[in-house]
Amino acid sequence: MDAFVINGGKRLRGTVRVHGAKNAALPQLAAALLTDQPVKLSDVPDLEDIRNMTKLLDELGCEVEHDPAASSVTVHSTDDSKCKARYDIVRKMRASVCVLGPLLARRGKAQVSMPGGCNIGDRPVDLHMRGLRALGAKVHLDSGYIVAELPESGRLTGARVFLGGPFGSTVLGTINVMSAAALAKGRTIIESAACEPEVEDMANLLSAMGANVTGAGTPRVIIEGVDQLHGAKHKVIPDRIEAGTYVAAAAITNGQITIENFPTDALTAVLDRFEYTGVEIEPVKPASGAGPSPTRKRGTRKKNNQGTLDDDRMRQTVRVASTRRLEPTQIFTQPHPGFPTDLQAQIMALLCLADGNSMITEKIFPDRFLHVAELLRMGANLVRNGPTVLVSGVRELIGAQVMASDLRASAGLILAGLAARGTTTVSRIYHVDRGYEKMELSLQKLGADVERVNQPEKQ
Ligand code: EPU
Repeated sequence: MDAFVINGGKRLRGTVRVHGAKNAALPQLAAALLTDQPVKLSDVPDLEDIRNMTKLLDELGCEVEHDPAASSVTVHSTDDSKCKARYDIVRKMRASVCVLGPLLARRGKAQVSMPGGCNIGDRPVDLHMRGLRALGAKVHLDSGYIVAELPESGRLTGARVFLGGPFGSTVLGTINVMSAAALAKGRTIIESAACEPEVEDMANLLSAMGANVTGAGTPRVIIEGVDQLHGAKHKVIPDRIEAGTYVAAAAITNGQITIENFPTDALTAVLDRFEYTGVEIEPVKPASGAGPSPTRKRGTRKKNNQGTLDDDRMRQTVRVASTRRLEPTQIFTQPHPGFPTDLQAQIMALLCLADGNSMITEKIFPDRFLHVAELLRMGANLVRNGPTVLVSGVRELIGAQVMASDLRASAGLILAGLAARGTTTVSRIYHVDRGYEKMELSLQKLGADVERVNQPEKQ
């Protein structure tokens, strides 16, 4: 199994480009099941999760052309008879559940393995099922599979669907219902829809395919169903979590870096917290009319056809610098536009070295803290109480052998390793490969001393 060996203490300098967003691209690939014409996505990152999704679509009767060098994937759904997403694939990648809505709406039936829990928590799919039932689908569980079928009428029917749950809305649930509703008869109104940028980007793809979707990016999404959708070309939005991870990498090493393809408009809460701690983030080439700071609000915003994200501020170039010890702060992870749970481990690594006490409360996945025990091994001062971790800043972290437990936890440990004194070995790096394209190459380009090695698993 691969591991990263990091010799910490190098200040990062140079330029890095943010890849397309994994969490936007995955459901968009699944959306190709909604039409019999090819859907071509560009700026698709070359990741293990993307390869898993293309494998699943291949099994579901699609012709898939993946060109990693051009960062493009074309999916052409040609065999409508296949409706089953096997446990072996869903187990590896929960995002496979987003084939549920498209399969049901276009092929009339879906049989998708129930994704189990994972290292970040229980992760139920009750809201996905509730949403599809509201559109008239017959949904039941059979031998570990979600089985969804069209009603007697042979078509889903638009309805008012409430998708709020105990921890807010659901991102992939909103996407599943939105894509199924695109082919339903009549109007669907999703109340308490997830507002994440990935939902809005999905709506943009659906619109390009001929769907009629408005309000995506807000808690109320309205879909007027159409009889059929057609092929489309779409460029995936930049990955806000990768972007935030590189800001943290510059900050934790007191570095100065330039980040291209930076989705400022999707990172408002994150930039607010970074700036509060003392990290400087300035656009290099401000978009026309943009103020000096990417977090500063502007009077007028250019809206894309869905409405909330500002196209100009989704692909900026920014300079990030951190020259002094950071201020401590409080973080509450929340649904968008709040601070994202997917950057919680990374900001925790950073706050381990802040000048005082910080508090981090996880409000999306209350058990997403497997990185805490590993950071303790590196000399961090952390006390967990339920969904909250008190982070007392220390003068330095010390290199150690640590184990990655999930995608974002791995990123947090790598950041800690970049700042630590001595050598840090982060094992089970396959977790990071699920969501960051060749992260070691990006970090090496920035001057980090990080190497990928093959490490035999010890008994
Ligand atoms: N939830 C329910 N019922 C449901 C669905 C979700 O109670 O039917 C709860 C979850 O347990 C959680 C909250 O609602 O407490 C939010 O979960 P959500 O459904 O929004 O998560 P998801 O759509 O399965 C996506 C991302 C995750 C990211 C979350 C939250 C993808 C492929 N995954 O998951 O990304 O953490 O939204 O923003 O888009 C990652 O990239 O590392 C990752 C885990």
